[in-house]
Amino acid sequence: MASIIDGNKIAKGIREEIGAQALKLKQEKGIVPGLAVILVGDDPASQIYVGRKERACEEAGFLSRHFGLPSQTQEKDLLRLVDEMNRDPAIHGILVQLPLPGHIRTEAVIEAVDPRKDVDGFHPYNMGRLLEGNPLHRACTPLGVMELLDRSGIPIEGKEAVIVGRSNIVGKPLALMLLLRHATITVCHTRTRDLGGVTGRADILVAAAGKAEMIRGDMVKEGAVVVDVGVNRLPDGRLVGDVAFSEVEPKASHITPVPGGVGPMTIAMLLRNTLNAFRLQTGA
Ligand code: GUN
Repeated sequence: MASIIDGNKIAKGIREEIGAQALKLKQEKGIVPGLAVILVGDDPASQIYVGRKERACEEAGFLSRHFGLPSQTQEKDLLRLVDEMNRDPAIHGILVQLPLPGHIRTEAVIEAVDPRKDVDGFHPYNMGRLLEGNPLHRACTPLGVMELLDRSGIPIEGKEAVIVGRSNIVGKPLALMLLLRHATITVCHTRTRDLGGVTGRADILVAAAGKAEMIRGDMVKEGAVVVDVGVNRLPDGRLVGDVAFSEVEPKASHITPVPGGVGPMTIAMLLRNTLNAFRLQTGA
């Protein structure tokens, strides 16, 4: 029987810590961190995520500025808005929700954000700093995974960590974060041969492939720590992760549920990154 890692509870604690710090800043210096959230189009999942991010910001006492742009928005108009936010002294963090509509070049938008305000950690400058081992802003979801491991007392140094998924948002930055903490890392993907053989070696297994319940019980070592980053909607409407929970849970020592595992941590880490960005820019 695994110990269930309660992401809701851990994230709530972090949000409260951040809220207390923001309140202190407001009382002592009269300034608050400001986050601009930009959503292009009307993707329903993105609308839900963005709404949660904005609410969390407000609850923490931050300034939250929302920009909902129509799906036909031209790239140059989005770039102009990003630039305006780069120059706005009340805004310390900028988040452009992904995915963007196909006619907009995602990399051009990511590169337009001032790296100091890049609270998503997606800018090549921030990815480069992480690769170098001297990170500034780090991507929220992998940072949330690291925080879950740390707050659950799971040792990382010297462990065999296997990540399934090589996205820029999760798999790649998480591999670098685990490497910085002295794990031995393996990144699996769609072309990996004998996936179960590789995942079966993991002391820490992270599923971030976006494929419903693909990690089965026989792919996991007895006593492994299993972190599920997946969020998949099944045809019957159920929300499941990338891990077949009922098969894997009996073998794992620790496991994160979906929902209520990594998801809430992403938002908590966005708040932390925004607070850090604020401190960097204001010296507060
Ligand atoms: N889409 C899915 N995850 C994320 C994220 O962490 N940040 C942004 N901006 N878009 C996303």
